[in-house]
Order: sequence, then C-alpha cells, then structure tokens
Amino acid sequence: MIINRIKESKIHNIDFGKLPFGKVFSDHMLICQYKSGKWHTPEIRPYGTLSISAGTQVLHYGQSVFEGMKAFKSDAGELLLFRYMDNYRRLNQSATRLSIPVISENIFKTGLKELLNLDSDWCNKEDGYALYIRPFIFASGECIKASASTEYTFVIITSPSTVYYPKAIDVIIEEHYSRASRGGVGFAKAAGNYASSFYPTKQANRKGFTQIIWTDAKEHRYIEESGTMNIWFRIGNKLVTPELSDSILDGITRRSIISLAKKRGIEVEERKILVKEILDAYHQNNLNECFGTGTAVTVSPIDSITFNSIRMVMAQKGESIALKLKKDLQDIQKGRIEDTFNWVTFLKEI
Ligand SMILES: Cc1ncc(COP(=O)(O)O)c(C=O)c1O
Repeated sequence: MIINRIKESKIHNIDFGKLPFGKVFSDHMLICQYKSGKWHTPEIRPYGTLSISAGTQVLHYGQSVFEGMKAFKSDAGELLLFRYMDNYRRLNQSATRLSIPVISENIFKTGLKELLNLDSDWCNKEDGYALYIRPFIFASGECIKASASTEYTFVIITSPSTVYYPKAIDVIIEEHYSRASRGGVGFAKAAGNYASSFYPTKQANRKGFTQIIWTDAKEHRYIEESGTMNIWFRIGNKLVTPELSDSILDGITRRSIISLAKKRGIEVEERKILVKEILDAYHQNNLNECFGTGTAVTVSPIDSITFNSIRMVMAQKGESIALKLKKDLQDIQKGRIEDTFNWVTFLKEI
C-alpha cells in the first residue's frame, strides 16, 4: 500500500465540544481504483478533493454505494471497531445490486487498519463520541451512455462524531411518497435511495417533524423504517419491528438490538406491522414506546408519531427499554462489559 502522510495534522483546529455531524473529516483517506477488470493497489493520502471530469458516470446515473460504521475508544484509550465485517459484507451486497465490482476482504481490512492507525487520535474517548467511518464506491469511468461503468473508485473517509439527536424526536407516517419498492434497491445502501428521500423529508421538517416513517410503496399500509433508522415499537411489553424485505435496510444496529433484547428476556417480534395496528395500540393505551436504531443515532427514542391529524404520544409505561438497550449496546461498543457476542475488534487485531 502507498502511504502519503499529511505534513501537519488539522486536529488542533477542531472544537470537539461543537462537532456538527458529518462535516469534520480526519486527516487521511484511503483510495483504491478499479480499472481493466481489477482493483489496484490502495493508497492513503491526506483527506481532500477527488479529481473527476464532468463526464464521470456517477454524476449522471448515481451508480454509487456506501457504508456507515463506527469505531470507539475504550477507557484505556484503545480503538475498538463494532461489527465492521458486517458492514464489509453489506457494502458488497449493495455493490452487487448496483452492478459494482466487490471489494476484496484484504483491501478492505488492510486499508481500514492503516487508515485508522494514522487517524485514531480523531476518536475522542469521552462518552458519546465515536469515529464515524464512511467507505463508499462510485462509478468513476468517463462515459455518459446509460450503462454500468467499467471503472470505479473505492474510498474510505472518517469523521469524528458525537450524539446525533440530543433529545427524543417527533416523526410522521408518510402516506404519499415512497422510499423503496419491492424488487428495488431499498435493502442496499445505494446513494440514490437517500437522494429521493430528501424532498419528502424536507416537507415533513417544515411541518415540525424530524423524520418520516416510510410505509410500503404499494399501499402505504405497512410500516417500513424511518430516515436512516430501523424502527421499533413497544406494544404492551413486547418489542415489535418490521420484518426484513428487499425494501428495508438490514440494519446492523437492528440485529444487535434483537440479540440484546433477547438476552434480557424481552420478547421480540419481527413481522409485518400495519399502521392500523399502531393506531389501535395507541387508542388502547398500549403503545408504550417507539424508537429508531442505526449507526449514526445508536438508539433514538421517538416521542410522538403523527398519522393524518392524529398525534400519538408514547405512553411510556414503566422504564424505557430503548434506554436500557442503548446502554447495553454502548457498554459493549466501549469495551466496558464482556463482549459475549464477539461484536468488537481491537484495531490491533485486524
Ligand atoms: C435506510 C436506513 N435504514 C436503517 C439504517 C440503520 O442501519 P445500521 O444499523 O446498519 O446503521 C440505516 C443506516 O445505516 C439506513 O440508512
């Protein structure tokens, strides 16, 4: 691997007390090019601009996929990665669906290791902080014919991050727009999925909601997910989350919460959830909690869900399960409790 280090780190110019999500980048990035049918030697260089021409395919047809994962600092100051190989596998699943060549385990692992070795200082040790890691692949061939590219660029950048939603959020159930349809790319982290969500989300923001709850594209009767989170309800004392399909992202935090809840003896159901079921539970005073899960937000409590003109405020009977599970997850991520699931990898072990 070629490594070009930055002359002087920018870290001293950063106010870690005021970190906007996703706007501050660490010193280095990894770049790897796919040309003539193979991925070439990766390179690490100072974080900065990429040079692409106006005819670059991704700009015209959106052939691009990405991942979002996090590293944490233990109290002893060691960098820990959370389930990063799950992200690697999902990146390749997304790539395959978008007709993008997959990345080898060797390029992904060694590239990540070298990059994090250089920039681990960017991960703050205090509670609530993490280093957000963004691997992505885009079509970098120069051609404006509507076709899959023959050239691609794989990049990893990292960004220090802190709490995403400082308080519980208010969401609205979407009845007109759709995020993903059957047979489409909703299960993939395809850039275009996010592009098409911004307009409806802005409309919801204008009405005072933080996020949308997406429903199925065919009938808008079933709950799917919310923003960049999988969604959960506590109905009675049971946790219910929509079952996976090709229009829902198979969240790694979702998988983790299922395991952690079961470990606590909490009943979890993964199944189709009708919007009507949520309304009925609310009217029966049985809708106790709602929360979203995702890498950026970890576990984010949802205060209210609006459907048409009905604002359902969570009854919140008993202790918050969302907050208990959030703590369980964060304790594993920070290496504070035994990692019985084998989710955490020390950087030095990659
Ligand atoms: C659409 C969507 N759903 C759910 C999630 C949560 O997935 P994960 O827990 O793997 O971050 C994300 C974020 O990655 C997302 O973009």
